[in-house]
Amino acid sequence: MYMNDPLAPLEIIMRQHNVKLAAPEFHAAVNVCFHRFESEVYDEIHRDMWESLPQQVELLAADCMRGPVPDKIHMLDIGCGTGLATDSLMRSSLAPRIQEIDLLDTSTAMLARAEKRREQWAKPGRTIEGIVETLPPGASYDLIVTSSVLHHVPDLPSFLKAVAGLQNALPDALFIHLQDPNGDSVGDPRKAERAAELPPAVPDSIARFTPKRILGRLMREIKGEQGQDYISKTNRELIRTGVIAKPLSVEEIFSITDIHVRDGGISIERMKAWLPDYELVAQRSYGFFGGLSSNLPQALRQREEQYIQDGELNGEHIAAAWRRLTSKR
Ligand SMILES: C[S@@+](CC[C@H](N)C(=O)[O-])C[C@H]1O[C@@H](n2cnc3c(N)ncnc32)[C@H](O)[C@@H]1O
Repeated sequence: MYMNDPLAPLEIIMRQHNVKLAAPEFHAAVNVCFHRFESEVYDEIHRDMWESLPQQVELLAADCMRGPVPDKIHMLDIGCGTGLATDSLMRSSLAPRIQEIDLLDTSTAMLARAEKRREQWAKPGRTIEGIVETLPPGASYDLIVTSSVLHHVPDLPSFLKAVAGLQNALPDALFIHLQDPNGDSVGDPRKAERAAELPPAVPDSIARFTPKRILGRLMREIKGEQGQDYISKTNRELIRTGVIAKPLSVEEIFSITDIHVRDGGISIERMKAWLPDYELVAQRSYGFFGGLSSNLPQALRQREEQYIQDGELNGEHIAAAWRRLTSKR
């Protein structure tokens, strides 16, 4: 897990697609382009996250509220996407303290959608395109949240150092992250046993011929919308801008963007070493049968809920809250 160079596995893809950029620039170009087009369908294809994450955010918010929490919170949402993490926080027990919300993302298309959602939150704040390492000096945040982002970030120690830098002078400042593959439950036999309880998925070769999909395909042909899915759009734009010479497969795109899904996931144990000035307030897990709760049959949904309430830690996803220590060690 976490090889010296997490981008090393990209070299084969880069060679096959005649990429002239260096690996970090290539990763960044694909990441930004993919999320630009994914933004158009993000809320629809991630409806399960919109259904499941508010509960996880509230659990972590309640964990934080059992200890000291800043009275007035200026927060930063890193990789805000369309605004899910902030929206969930604005429905959580931390909400009454949140005064100001800054939104940061590498995708302007995502930022535009989150900014629209700000109207519902009715809180002021800045919208910033970029990465946490290049935020202007002097910024500081009582709460930093990042949801479904850590697994996209090649250099996690650098990312977490920048997070800590934004909470330097703020004892009790909070850092919350969620929706990443759980690196500490890899190889846990109970995960495989639970996954085996899921009803078998319909093979894609059969699913392709359902009446709904046939009709959908016909309609796209009639409307001339073939190739308008976000993967095709990503490929076309990467070719147009000279990043790649020929299209990437779906598998290749995800192996580039979801860099830490492929190398073992996000490990809380490992993060402890990278966040020496923080205490771990709580870690939580979910996705005990692989997918999120709303995708499960009713009986398994109840068991998922029970595992969540029991604080089991060996689900597919990991989330945690950290608190800045009062004085540096
Ligand atoms: C999977 S989406 C998650 C969006 C949102 N936080 C949520 O939970 O629905 C990942 C988001 O992170 C952004 N992103 C990826 N790498 C980033 C980085 N290094 N810094 C900031 N944003 C990043 C993407 O543009 C995208 O909007």
